[in-house]
Amino acid sequence: MNNEPVDMGGFTLASDAPLGTRNTLRVDARAKLLAEVRDPTRLPELLTYPAVKDGKVLVLGEGSNVLLAGDYNGTVVVMATRGVETIQRDDRVLLRVAAGERWDDFVRWSLGQGYAGLENLILIPGTVGAAPIQNIGAYGVEVAEFVDSVEAWDTHANQFVILDRAQCAFSYRHSSFKAQAGRWIITAVTFALPRERPLNMDYAGIGEELERMGVPKPAPFHVAEAVVRLRSRKLPDPAVIGNAGSFFKNPIVSSATADALALAHPGLPVWPHAGGTAKLSAAWLIEASGFKGQRDGDAGISNRHALVLVNHGKATGPELLGFARKIMSSVEARFGVRLEPEPLVVS
Ligand code: EPU
Repeated sequence: MNNEPVDMGGFTLASDAPLGTRNTLRVDARAKLLAEVRDPTRLPELLTYPAVKDGKVLVLGEGSNVLLAGDYNGTVVVMATRGVETIQRDDRVLLRVAAGERWDDFVRWSLGQGYAGLENLILIPGTVGAAPIQNIGAYGVEVAEFVDSVEAWDTHANQFVILDRAQCAFSYRHSSFKAQAGRWIITAVTFALPRERPLNMDYAGIGEELERMGVPKPAPFHVAEAVVRLRSRKLPDPAVIGNAGSFFKNPIVSSATADALALAHPGLPVWPHAGGTAKLSAAWLIEASGFKGQRDGDAGISNRHALVLVNHGKATGPELLGFARKIMSSVEARFGVRLEPEPLVVS
């Protein structure tokens, strides 16, 4: 097999494939094998190929939530499936969406069809199949709320399965798919979207943005436009500078720890979280540690948002990871809070 993709019917295979354009941090790594799957029913066959079966497998969507720490000595599977199917309509609609669809395209399409719910989640990079894995969220909304079920190939049970929302075990930037990383290859997600739903405009910034836009009675697409404006201002565009969105999760600590920290550091944003815990702003902790806009070679922290690790050009995976670790040690030494990377770190 040479470097050119070979069509195997339903999927293509290429060896020693470059991944530089397949991850938004633009790390110039390579995969031993790269499979692009157009027909998910062919997944079982692909996974039994000796070259695939005997090695490790990584599923990549748009690569917007991974840090490739080196070349991947296994098979990278990209779901290149497309399509939205409307399953049922009454007061809400069920939409079955192929894993390979771009998330933002689907959000815009759903708003165009008059469905509500996804407006706060516009402009998030990545694919539909990746959305449930880290339970994407923004501006006070998480995708979990709208996931009806997830279809996947279960590599443990060797069969196609459908997981309902409870089985997905969603929590803040977490799910069964993260807890048992590598077990399932998501092939489609079914969303339940209402025709109407109270707009979620509580998150700081949305109300002000709508005012600036001069919208007194907002519809979902107005909220979407406000979120587009906010995100475009605050977050660096991966098309312009390599990044994977928030590189760290907002840490969850006990309420007592949060109270003590807030007392010692006025200005630290603290949000109440489930069961006697509180969520702290990782961006604030990183900025207060002096890293905003700083860089080590081509690995750096965005000057727009302290949560975003950026690749100024030719940073390698280990360089980016090294800079991230330096930030983690510094924040821990200063505040006693351990940050956790949000993207999947792949080695
Ligand atoms: N802040 C700073 N310095 C900064 C940026 C923010 O101190 O450079 C502080 C400010 O006090 C600000 C607060 O952090 O009020 C919160 O900032 P922001 O509203 O940008 O939200 P975030 O908590 O930093 C989270 C998500 C984002 C999502 C935004 C908006 C995580 C890990 N990140 O960021 O998600 O877009 O809220 O809802 O939960 C992503 O996951 O990739 C992502 C971009």
